[in-house]
Amino acid sequence: MADLLHFRAAGTSLVLDLSGTGLPRVPHWGADLGELSPGRLAALVAAEAAPAVAGDLDEPFALSVLPQASAGWPGTPGLSGHRDSCAAAPAFTVRGRSVVAGQRRLRVEAADADVGLTLTLEIELTDAGLVRLRAEVTNTGPGPYHLGELTPALPVPPQATEILDLTGRHLRERAPQRHAFTLGTHLRENRRGRTGSDATLLQIAGEPGFGFRSGEVWGLHVAWSGNHRSLAERTPAGHAVLAGGELLLPGEIRLAPGDSYTSPWLCGSYGRHGLDELSGRFHRHLRARARHPVSPRPVTLNTWEAVYFDQDPATLERLARVAAEAGAERFVLDDGWFRGRRDDRAGLGDWYVDERVWPAGLSPLIETVHGLGMRFGLWVEPEMISPDSGLARAHPDWILAATPARTPPAARHQQVLDLARPDAYGYVLGRLDALLRADRIDYLKWDHNRDLVDAPAHRQTAAVYRLMDALRARHPHLEIESCSSGGGRVDLGILERTDRVWTSDCIDALERQRIQRWTGLLLPPELLGAHVGAPLSHTTGRTHGLDFRAGTALFGHFGIEWDLTAASAAERARLAEWVALYRALRPLLHTGTVVRADHPDPALWVHGVVAADGARAVFALVQTATGVHSPAGRVRLPGLTPEDEYRVLPLPPGDRPEGPFTAPPPWWERGVTLSGRVLAEAGVRAPTLFPERLVLLEAVRVADGPR
Ligand code: GLA
Repeated sequence: MADLLHFRAAGTSLVLDLSGTGLPRVPHWGADLGELSPGRLAALVAAEAAPAVAGDLDEPFALSVLPQASAGWPGTPGLSGHRDSCAAAPAFTVRGRSVVAGQRRLRVEAADADVGLTLTLEIELTDAGLVRLRAEVTNTGPGPYHLGELTPALPVPPQATEILDLTGRHLRERAPQRHAFTLGTHLRENRRGRTGSDATLLQIAGEPGFGFRSGEVWGLHVAWSGNHRSLAERTPAGHAVLAGGELLLPGEIRLAPGDSYTSPWLCGSYGRHGLDELSGRFHRHLRARARHPVSPRPVTLNTWEAVYFDQDPATLERLARVAAEAGAERFVLDDGWFRGRRDDRAGLGDWYVDERVWPAGLSPLIETVHGLGMRFGLWVEPEMISPDSGLARAHPDWILAATPARTPPAARHQQVLDLARPDAYGYVLGRLDALLRADRIDYLKWDHNRDLVDAPAHRQTAAVYRLMDALRARHPHLEIESCSSGGGRVDLGILERTDRVWTSDCIDALERQRIQRWTGLLLPPELLGAHVGAPLSHTTGRTHGLDFRAGTALFGHFGIEWDLTAASAAERARLAEWVALYRALRPLLHTGTVVRADHPDPALWVHGVVAADGARAVFALVQTATGVHSPAGRVRLPGLTPEDEYRVLPLPPGDRPEGPFTAPPPWWERGVTLSGRVLAEAGVRAPTLFPERLVLLEAVRVADGPR
């Protein structure tokens, strides 16, 4: 096998240097370099090699995908740990390597006989141009090895001098923050035991001022749902890396002789022209998965903000009927259906239908829902236990704790159930399985509403994955939604076993524009739960018109979370129009390419989806606040095929710039025909909009039939 590998896919090149016996190095990860002969590849590597410098090692340091302190790496080590009295940093020697025939996937075996470890590295470049990297370490020594961290890294070039990462909180997930990529470490750690509302999702570094459509960018995601860390690190020698892995608590991973630990996948994406390209690789990669949901994403009515804990069969049956009239296709019964659950203080763990609320069980409602042509979903929170529950009274020792001597502080009046215990795991699997067998339940909204404070997270996360996998193996058609106080468990680890995320408990459309925009950097629209709420937002107190609420939910997996029995006939009719639009557009929205324009006025957002074949696109022009200009200026509509002509028209029911001081531009009524290039470069005059309003535009390739 050659010492130098050049993987190319979808506009990305990954060059791997395997020469010598050291771990693989990455002389280039970025723009496609074109076909390179072995000689040219060798020249590229030779041209990149650093000289030795005064005051440093005699031999220049070689940065690998698992940077080693033993080789002279002064930054965060790729692997740390100790074996009782010996904390020597490993110095791995490569023993073997292989490339899967016809695939861009490298496997490297290495060992350090002195420290007593072997290492397996897997590195691949997917068809979407996404780099995936993970490591497995095995204890081959005589006694236990205590693993501190296993944090693979990918290098980024010197032009990446600006960092973008995301933070947030409950009801405000995915707030972006930008800053200089200075010398030192920008470390994002998460010790919540779940992915977290504040998890960055992506650690991105790029050229200064990069945007959605411009600037070179590199980004990394850690595909893990427990404690994790990601970092951007720059050293005085000019090395810059993005790295990440599981965050291991002291003592959490104790490898007995022969035991192994595998890091979560680290996924790296590149954009030559900004974040849209970087994001598109994640979307394409996810869509290529065997279990990616490809059936039309059903319009989902969720009962939570409609009735909260106030469940009774007659009310919910009425709600199901009006939901079906509005076009709903799935009805999800949220929290409050099981024993003792009249509020959030009790009941978690008692996964039996509460006979006092549902004397005839859930079957009559489920049959009504199916009779109305909808599917049925049920809310569960399997990883939790209320101290006030039959389960906790019977098994107080099933509460997860760092030590039996103390119970972690309560959060939402609940504790975590220790799923690493076979008895607790067996009980929950058995109850969920029984519920799914008893009735036609097609969908679980799987919630997780507290941090794992003062509790080990690794084995719990592994157990949750096992539990979901076991349930799906028994019920292959079951869909699962990943919810965690809203968007607290959004990551590619959980998405290997779930079918969408509940993006946020905040369904205020203005907040949702931002939350969906940034969560959408990682996930395509069909995986983002997006619901139309009541006119008055329950979580912010803002009031929004129906068109703004529905036009926001349109760009996700559309749903309704509103007491429609209290909505007016006019509101229900208008909602039905939006539902019909979603149903007509979802084949495009859920397979197309997401685009976001970089508009100079931060109050005006332009985003859309272009059909995979370039024949059509839908754009939203969103006025998030009052604009600087009146009348509004031009907006660019990116992503269409440059050479093709498109007819652009406002798209009903999102075609009305509401309000007395708003005005559509002259082209609005009759539409305009322009090439994809002109639309992307020059754009069209936007209507003047009130703040917190949006309009939709549709672009249709003229050859495909002008409207
Ligand atoms: C969490 C979820 C909500 C809802 C409630 C029910 O907060 O994020 O959507 O399901 O729990 O208790």
